[in-house]
This record gives sequence, C-alpha cells and structure tokens, in this order.
Amino acid sequence: MTQELTTSLATEPARPSEGHGWWRDAVIYQVYVRSFADSDGDGIGDLRGARERLPHLAGLGVDAVWLTPFYASPQADGGYDVADYRAVDPLFGTLGDADDLVRTAHELGLKVIVDVVPNHSSDQHPWFREALADRPGGAARARYHFRPGRGAHGELPPNDWESVFGGPAWTRTTGPDGTPGEWYLHLFAPQQPDLNWDSPEVRAEFDSVLRFWLDLGVDGFRIDVAHGMVKAAGLPDIGHTEQAKLIGSQVLPFFDQDGVHEIHRSWRRLLDSYPGDRIGVAEAWAPTAERLALYVRPDELHQAFNFQFLKCPWDAAAMREVIDESLAATGSVGAPTTWVLSNHDVVRHTTRYADGAGGGPERGLARARAAALLILALPGSAYLYQGEELGLPEVTELPDELRQDPAFFRTSPDGQEGQDGQDGFRDGCRVPLPWTRSGDSYGFGPGGSWLPQPEDWAELSVEAQTGDPGSTLELYREALALRRELPGLGDGSMSWLDAPAGVLALSRPGLVCTLNTLGEEVELPVPGRALLSSAPLAYQAGTVRIPPDSCAWWAI
Ligand code: BGC
Repeated sequence: MTQELTTSLATEPARPSEGHGWWRDAVIYQVYVRSFADSDGDGIGDLRGARERLPHLAGLGVDAVWLTPFYASPQADGGYDVADYRAVDPLFGTLGDADDLVRTAHELGLKVIVDVVPNHSSDQHPWFREALADRPGGAARARYHFRPGRGAHGELPPNDWESVFGGPAWTRTTGPDGTPGEWYLHLFAPQQPDLNWDSPEVRAEFDSVLRFWLDLGVDGFRIDVAHGMVKAAGLPDIGHTEQAKLIGSQVLPFFDQDGVHEIHRSWRRLLDSYPGDRIGVAEAWAPTAERLALYVRPDELHQAFNFQFLKCPWDAAAMREVIDESLAATGSVGAPTTWVLSNHDVVRHTTRYADGAGGGPERGLARARAAALLILALPGSAYLYQGEELGLPEVTELPDELRQDPAFFRTSPDGQEGQDGQDGFRDGCRVPLPWTRSGDSYGFGPGGSWLPQPEDWAELSVEAQTGDPGSTLELYREALALRRELPGLGDGSMSWLDAPAGVLALSRPGLVCTLNTLGEEVELPVPGRALLSSAPLAYQAGTVRIPPDSCAWWAI
C-alpha cells in the first residue's frame, strides 16, 4: 500500500555561530597504512605506497585522510605500541616519506590527520626500559604505573583490572637477579605499558610530540584511547570480571574519568596556537552520547567518533533513536556529529549487516551501500574505512598462524593465555586492498601481501569497479561528488518525515533521503527527483517502489 511522507517534528541541532571549520562536515578516509598500498615489495603497506595512491582518494572525493600509526614500533599491536613518537618505522619508510606524503596530499587538496597514542607507549620505548632498570619508587618508574603486588609475597596483581585484550591488566617485573618485583599496568597488551599522566614529564613530552608533527604540516590528530589517560585515584578494584564488556556502557576507574578533559583542553590550546584549522579527534568510548559530547565542548576536541551509531543494529527505529541522541548531544555543545560504520578494530559492516539477516553476503552488501548513503546524508562529518568504498567484506577464514591481533593470542585457546575461543578478531578487517584485477596481491604491491586476500577479490578491485555504474565504488564516487555539489548536505539541520515502519525519511535543505531497512520493497509517493539510489528504483503512476535494504537521495 502506498504510504504518505509527511513532515513531523523536526530535529534541529544547534548551529554554531562561529566560523565554519573544514572539519565540521569533512569526509575523512582512514588509511590503515600496513594494508593500503605497498611500494617496496615487502608485503606490508608503507607511506610511499600510500602517497602514490592519494589520487585515488582525491578522485573518490574525500576531504582528508587519517593515517594509522607509522611510528617506530615493535608492532606488538599494529603500531599502537610506539617506541619513538618522532620516528617513522623502517617498515613504513622514512620521515622524508611522511613529509612527501603530507605535501602531496595538500597539493591534491586533501588534509592529513595522524594518530597519536598517548595512553601507553611500547615496552621498547627508552622510558620504559629506564623504568624497568630503575628501583621501585624511582623517578623513571613515575612515568608509568608501577605498584607492589598484593598477597603475602606480592604475588597477586595490585588490583582486579583486566586488559581490554583479555587477561589481567598487570604484569610482574623481574629484577636483574631474577627475583620478581613490582607490577606495571597495561590496559592493552603487556607490550603497551600505560603512561602516568600525573607526571609533568609525560605531559611535556606529548606537547612536544604534537608540535613535531604539526610543524611537519599535519592537519590534526586522531587521539587513541582519548578516554583512558587518567585513572581513578588509588586505582580502585572494579569488583567483577568481564570488564571489557562494560567499556562504552559504564564509567570505569580506568576509562572516561573526568580528569581526561583537562588534558584535551590543553591540547586544544596547543592546536589553536597553529595557523589553519588543526583538529583533534577523540577515539573515546563513553557510556552515553551526553558523556561523549563532553569531549567536543568548544574548548576541547573538534570531533569524537560516534561508536553508538556504529554499534546500532540494522533497525529503522533503533537507528533513528541513535541519530536523534547523537545530534542532540553534540548539538548541545555546538559540535558536529561524526558518522562511522567501520574501522580497523571492528568487523567490516558489510559482514556485520549480513549476520543473522538471511540472504548472505549480498544482503550485507546491499545494507552497507544503503548505510553509506544514509551517513553521507546526515548532518556532520563522516569517516570511511579503507575498502568500504569497494564493499569489502570481513575475511573470516584467516589461518591462525598468520594472525597478528594481540587480542587473538590473549583470548584464543591456541594463544598463550587461552580462555574461550572466539572470532571477530581484528585481522579480518585489515586484509590489504585489491587495486587491480590481477598481479601480485591484486596490485597492493609487488611482493605479495602480509595477509592473504580471498580469491574472489579481483572483481572487488578498484580497477574492476571503476566505470561500472552498478559498482559500490561508483556509488561512493557519485555520493561524494553530490555531497560537494549540494549545499543542503554536510553541516546543518535535518528533520524527519513520517514514513512507514521500517523506513526512515529525512529532510535536508533541498533534499530528501529515504532508507528502507525492510527485507521487502516499500511503495511510496515519489518524494522528488531521484539523485542517487543504492539499488534500482521502479516507478509506477506517481509512486516509487523502494527496494529492500536500500537508500535513495531525492532533490525536492
Ligand atoms: C586502537 C586499537 C589499539 C588500541 C590500543 C585502539 O583504540 O584503535 O587498534 O589496539 O587502541 O592502542
């Protein structure tokens, strides 16, 4: 039956009165450097490879790239274990390559954001080596969290905190004579000791690191674990296990403590002291949209990843609720909302959306294409994860011996600290991109790829999809081109239109976006002139049949 689309209560996020920063509606493309493009044939992506492929991103129509860590690192956690914050790891190139990449990006009109990892260093960082060599209570230990153990002989960890990757968040040190000593805190892998942000030296060092990269010309930072730097005084016990499940739903003594905001305020002052709009983006897991909005108050960071939306199931009512909450929360502090569907830490959304849906991978891809059009129509900024423009699925059958995710080794029965085996580890979303139909690693590089690419990825390659009007790549290109062209998209206001259950219809100035989340087509009065659709539309006497799991943009 034909359903009417009529205007309902509007959701009008507050529009800031200050100047319009580029970041307020930027589309930012995440380059996972190790898996984007390899120039030297070692099977691992690098900065030169990324630079050579920047024209693809400029052509795609994004505004900025975010590069994951390429700093000197033993790679215990894909580079999120930094041994030298000012050096490029030889795996990824040289400082000169970083400089060239930033310059080339700017020439192409792309901004560059780099990761900064302030919650923890590598255990190979000179500071941590010094700390291990120091005595309990020594100055070098004050840069980290060292504590004596509990129990008669200090044989128990200082508190009950668990590592996000599984197992205890503490590791005991061993003295030069082999006797066990103090314990140190690591919220992630043991190779990632947490820095102590009460130490003035730690604060001063990170100011200097930020300046180093700002001086090189970067346009901002994605701040890793931006919610973790401050721990509750006294490091209190939590009182129960499976703490990783509480992340993002509760304030924990190690996450989302109020004290982190003062650090972000001081970083904002530092960013503002540079010319141009240099930005800070929080990777923060906060229990509610309201608490997340605290990170983007006017004197704090510019953006925060909206993980509430990422976690939202494929359900129109749930999506609408999260969208409303997100816009209201960020709007209340005058910040733009961000929309993100995938990143290097989560199962790719093409696969997530297929889970339990019936209809297999095709269904997941249909939903992923629709979700892309939805987020690009919403007010604010959008983050794209490399390969989503190709509709890449998660690779679920990687051989265990090739896996590198430290979480796998800490939680799998084959790993050192076996608990319950599970999949959903983070290697399957990090498989290198296919650029060409044939050739070594589908054009990723001349020397294979560090994780094997599935055999059917030739047809998902950039080459295969380019020029094919039905391809996901061309859908993204068209959507991003329209987003630049149409003043009603990007930053600004939106309102909901009434729509049948399972359908979302939202209005932006000059434009309507319809999303059908149902497994069957829906017939609607034609909302306007079709601009773009994630699936073919069929018209009949003033009505349009919106295909299942699809999204369309209409000019009005
Ligand atoms: C990064 C992960 C990393 C963790 C520890 C995260 O938020 O995105 O890839 O393992 O921080 O640095």
